[in-house]
Amino acid sequence: MRKITENVYAVGIVDWNVRKFHGNTYITKKGVTYNSYLIKDKEPVLIDVVDKGFEEEFLSNISEIIDPKEIKHVILNHLEPDHSGALEYIAKMCPNAKFYGTAKLKEGAGKYYKLNIDINVVKTGHTISGGDNTFKFIEIPMIHWPDSMMTYCAEKKILFSNDAFGQHITANKIFADEIDQAELFKEAKKYYANILWSLGSIIQRKLTELAAMNLAVDMIAPSHGMIWRKEPLKMIDIYMKWAQNKTENKVVIVYETMWGSTELMAKSILNGLTAKGIDAKLFDISSTDFGELAYEMLDAKAFVFGSSTHDNEMLPYMAGFIYFLKGLKPLNRIALAFGSYGWSGGAVKDISEMLKSSGIEVIGTVDSKFKPDAGEIKKCFDAGVMLAEKLI
Ligand code: FEO
Repeated sequence: MRKITENVYAVGIVDWNVRKFHGNTYITKKGVTYNSYLIKDKEPVLIDVVDKGFEEEFLSNISEIIDPKEIKHVILNHLEPDHSGALEYIAKMCPNAKFYGTAKLKEGAGKYYKLNIDINVVKTGHTISGGDNTFKFIEIPMIHWPDSMMTYCAEKKILFSNDAFGQHITANKIFADEIDQAELFKEAKKYYANILWSLGSIIQRKLTELAAMNLAVDMIAPSHGMIWRKEPLKMIDIYMKWAQNKTENKVVIVYETMWGSTELMAKSILNGLTAKGIDAKLFDISSTDFGELAYEMLDAKAFVFGSSTHDNEMLPYMAGFIYFLKGLKPLNRIALAFGSYGWSGGAVKDISEMLKSSGIEVIGTVDSKFKPDAGEIKKCFDAGVMLAEKLI
């Protein structure tokens, strides 16, 4: 629990130990926070709830400030269980509270939890008052669930942005300017890549609408990670760049290898890119988590995918990753496909077809039978040079 400004407190939870978020794709090496905010007022307001398993700790945080029975309004910006798992418990502990959420949240809450809570449906522009403070709702459907919304408190100049502008980072701090900046921005970017990348056109539209509202914002308080209080609007510009799928001349090489031949090819392609001065990184998919690769790829113009052939197909981790990437909907990217095979190929064709179906332009392929010889290594190097020249 910490005061963030007069009468506004962070009462959420730091889940130091969770390592898998959204199933297996997003590995959270240092855990996650479920932020919640309490505003002391004539009618106290709670914004967002936390995940299940933290009910008593959450209640204890609130109780350090006020008796939970005094809470008169609970604003539910989003239904996903990380923000609503403790809802049933909180509803019992805050018997005098009214609950607020979008129509989609109300519909989802009924299906998810079958709770007997009367959720007051709110829309963009609706406001409630706690007494000295007003809370305006701004729907943000599909950022990143249909029910999502933000809440703006004009008197405190705080935008409670829910998932938007979050980071999966933990610390015994609450402000973005209190922690290591490189780690902060890496985690903000990784969060965007994994949670929001596929929604770029919706995000662009919503950010434009948000800018047109001309809200005075001193702080953006998301539901995960640190609160932005130093140049908070800078994050809106950064999100706009990511939402527009703007890329840099960077290459990410991802491969999966059985006996090392595909790995030799990957390294030779990397050498070709390096010879041309291109920023390129190499990852073995079997030892890299998908979420980390999404982070690396978010602003990379080109991808290179390679796999050994196994039973006439690409190897399974590679197939899983390209399938995952397809869901992220990367736009305006080019790629190479490569791989080794024994008696007959298949992986390179597989990769190429899957990339094309993901909207990624495949500009070249290289394959090698058994272990690549000097000539095939040279072909890989040349493919790297060719890709580099497309970027320069
Ligand atoms: Fe943090 Fe979409 O839940």
